[in-house]
Amino acid sequence: MRVCVIGTGYVGLVTGVCLAHSGHDVICIDNNEEKVKLMKSGQSPIFEPGLSEIMQSCIQNGNIQFSADLAAGVTHGEILFIAVGTPPLPNGESDTRYVEAVARGIGANLNGGYKVIVNKSTVPIGSGDWVRMIVLDGIAERQKSAEEKLPEIANQFDVVSNPEFLREGSAVYDTFNPDRIVLGGNSQQAIGMMKELYAPIVERKLAADQSLPPVPVLVTDLSSAEMIKYAANAFLATKISFINEVANICDRVGADVTQVAKGIGLDSRIGNKFLQAGIGWGGSCFPKDVSALIHTADDYGYEAQLLKSAVSVNERQRLIALEKLQQALKILKGKTVGLLGLTFKPDTDDLRDAPALNLIEQLNRLGAKVKAYDPIISQTGMRHGLSGVLVETDAERLADGCDALVLVTEWQQFNTLDYVKMAQLMNHPVMIDGRNFLNPEAMAKAGFQYVGVGRTAKN
Ligand code: UDX
Repeated sequence: MRVCVIGTGYVGLVTGVCLAHSGHDVICIDNNEEKVKLMKSGQSPIFEPGLSEIMQSCIQNGNIQFSADLAAGVTHGEILFIAVGTPPLPNGESDTRYVEAVARGIGANLNGGYKVIVNKSTVPIGSGDWVRMIVLDGIAERQKSAEEKLPEIANQFDVVSNPEFLREGSAVYDTFNPDRIVLGGNSQQAIGMMKELYAPIVERKLAADQSLPPVPVLVTDLSSAEMIKYAANAFLATKISFINEVANICDRVGADVTQVAKGIGLDSRIGNKFLQAGIGWGGSCFPKDVSALIHTADDYGYEAQLLKSAVSVNERQRLIALEKLQQALKILKGKTVGLLGLTFKPDTDDLRDAPALNLIEQLNRLGAKVKAYDPIISQTGMRHGLSGVLVETDAERLADGCDALVLVTEWQQFNTLDYVKMAQLMNHPVMIDGRNFLNPEAMAKAGFQYVGVGRTAKN
């Protein structure tokens, strides 16, 4: 099928590349010419395992193009994805101006032939109908300014909501191995075309395990599909805040949250995922989506108390490492603290809403010197505009002269560092494990005073 994806941020680029890889003829549109140039040369503007490789093979096979020309994209696609950002406004609401501009641009360029317009951006509930209205506005503006009468195109499109659930760091894997595909809309024709588009993925043609039964496709109305995205993210964020709260209680009573998580996770009603206690959730989705859902509820006169608590537990949790540093070192003024990891999670270069940023700010405020080593940021640090932290090139340089280390991001390679050497290089070998990632016994053996989150149990 001919597909146009507008916006080559995280969601747009991964969607475009993966659809091209599943055999469709895709054009990705972005108004940033520099980025278009980069992508045309086969380079991905984001760090995502496996993405550049697939991108390059699709370019070679000729089933993906990159362009800044929206009109060309709209002409090409029978399915038009809107995948531009909806960043949070200071009050927690989503900023939908980019979606609006794209919808207007689609309207201004629709040119006959039935099209499906797909909302892939995480948009406020009710946006499906709003996008339809904006597209119609775009068409009307063009009709008004056209010298000759244009053909009737107002009824030749439908809007579908198709939320994405991919995780950074495993976005390609998640796209080819989804738990479900959600399609919201009331046009049979549009839903039919979307099912055809996703057929290779539904039939697991590119899945890691092709013998699994087909991926469930859930068809709903527009608003329910939009709500599913928010509810899924809010649920997961709340699940993490829940286990973090349990971890804080474990710390006080002397229990081990990793064992507790195992014990409750074996209950199939609870499930074992997203029960990893630590220094809280961050990234581009959870904080934004939970705030937006609270805001929507507010707009309708409902106070989302549980979600507000999930946010406040998370805000407090982000400073748990600071509390533990103060317990171990007492005064932080004049001390040097080293952070292992900076990104909000491993296998990404994303620092958006990363707990490390709060920690750096607070440590600076208390007069501590902050250093960091991150497998990705240490290579690309300059472009992130980090301040208040000295980014080191390796873990041993980081440890040198530190009074404590804080493991902020659970990068796999932190499993194999030479901790004996690192402990020797430090002033005080204190290890605050903000992700409960390291083995406490091994750390003690390496010479560290080990402090996890909710792991005070004595075996
Ligand atoms: C999330 C959703 O998982 C995905 O479905 C949605 O499309 C976008 O938002 P992402 O933000 O990439 O994906 O990261 P995810 O792996 O879900 O982690 C989010 C945050 O929660 C990270 O800061 C992570 O460190 C934290 N987390 C996750 C925990 O603290 N504990 C856990 O058990 C799991």
